[in-house]
Amino acid sequence: MQWPLDNLAASNALAARIAAGLATGDCVALEGDLGAGKTTLARAILRALGVTEDVPSPTFTLVQSYETTRFPVRHFDLYRVEDEEEIEELGLDDALEHDVTLVEWPERATDRLPAARLRVAITTEGGRKAAISGPAKWAGFLNPGQGGHGG
Ligand SMILES: Nc1ncnc2c1ncn2[C@@H]1O[C@H](COP(=O)(O)OP(=O)(O)O)[C@@H](O)[C@H]1O
Ligand SMILES: [Mg+2]
Repeated sequence: MQWPLDNLAASNALAARIAAGLATGDCVALEGDLGAGKTTLARAILRALGVTEDVPSPTFTLVQSYETTRFPVRHFDLYRVEDEEEIEELGLDDALEHDVTLVEWPERATDRLPAARLRVAITTEGGRKAAISGPAKWAGFLNPGQGGHGG
């Protein structure tokens, strides 16, 4: 499915749909080049989940953790990850099991990510948009014809 991201309101709308569908153990893989809008979408998902604190890009820390009323969320940015050992030390496997994970640059750890992840691939050529694919449950949350606005 294609989701236009022409402005920040569009990113917020997509984030609200994703937030409504998330459950513990879910992984959202945020693909796209530098500047595509991955952190913006991750931040909007966290806002939709009720997070009011600062949501910095994990560019340097590589992971940021949040509490929500529904589940803990860990937001990863794997761009700078060098090797498997570093990914292990970041706690990715633990997060995938116990939390909701939002992963920028998921290509760095494809083998570790669940096949049932929600893939959101953002491109900006010819207008910013997201190509979204994932398990069947997401159709009900992401279909524009349905409500899906939660929180
Ligand atoms: N839907 C959107 N509409 C307009 N600008 C956006 C949108 N999404 C992101 N941006 C802008 O693009 C820039 C890069 O976004 P960012 O989320 O940091 O990208 P990434 O994490 O993919 O590197 C920021 O200035 C952000 O405000
Ligand atoms: Mg980013």
